[in-house]
Amino acid sequence: MQGALRPLGRSPKSEGMKRPILIHPDPRLKKVCDPVTDLSDELRVLADDMLETMYDAPGIGLAAPQVGVMHRLIVLDCVKEEGEAPRPTVMFNPEILAVSDDLNTYEEGCLSIPEQYADVTRPAEVRVGWIDQNGTPQERDFDGLWATCVQHEIDHLNGKLFIDYLKPLKRQMITRKMQKLKRERARA
Ligand code: NI
Repeated sequence: MQGALRPLGRSPKSEGMKRPILIHPDPRLKKVCDPVTDLSDELRVLADDMLETMYDAPGIGLAAPQVGVMHRLIVLDCVKEEGEAPRPTVMFNPEILAVSDDLNTYEEGCLSIPEQYADVTRPAEVRVGWIDQNGTPQERDFDGLWATCVQHEIDHLNGKLFIDYLKPLKRQMITRKMQKLKRERARA
């Protein structure tokens, strides 16, 4: 996810290598991703690369399909206070286990839809279960920007983008802008 508030973009430790981010529209961004059944070294390297790519962008969340890998893996770090320690978070097979009735509206953006922002309303709090880099199951409650971001990234694993929550006209307008951006980048 690309926040409307610019993240600080600092990278805690640069172990990974930057990978190119797919830009919408792309069929790989519309697919349901496969569960991770074997936490291979390849997938751990991918997680490091995704963190590096996210911090560099800069963004606060990134999902594997955004770098063309169709597995259920997301990374996020929604720390935005200056001076607060980074919290790089890697989630394999993340699952939303519970949601609050309370809703929250955030102006969302996406690294696959650069420079486009729109209000999206989602549950204000979510309980998420996942497998961490060490293969250990984790469960935690998220609120605030973390809750928005983790839902946005899990949506990616189900082929859903934040613009899918918008009215068709607004979605089409953004998609046309992205088609134009891709044409320009292809020519450059
Ligand atoms: Ni996104």
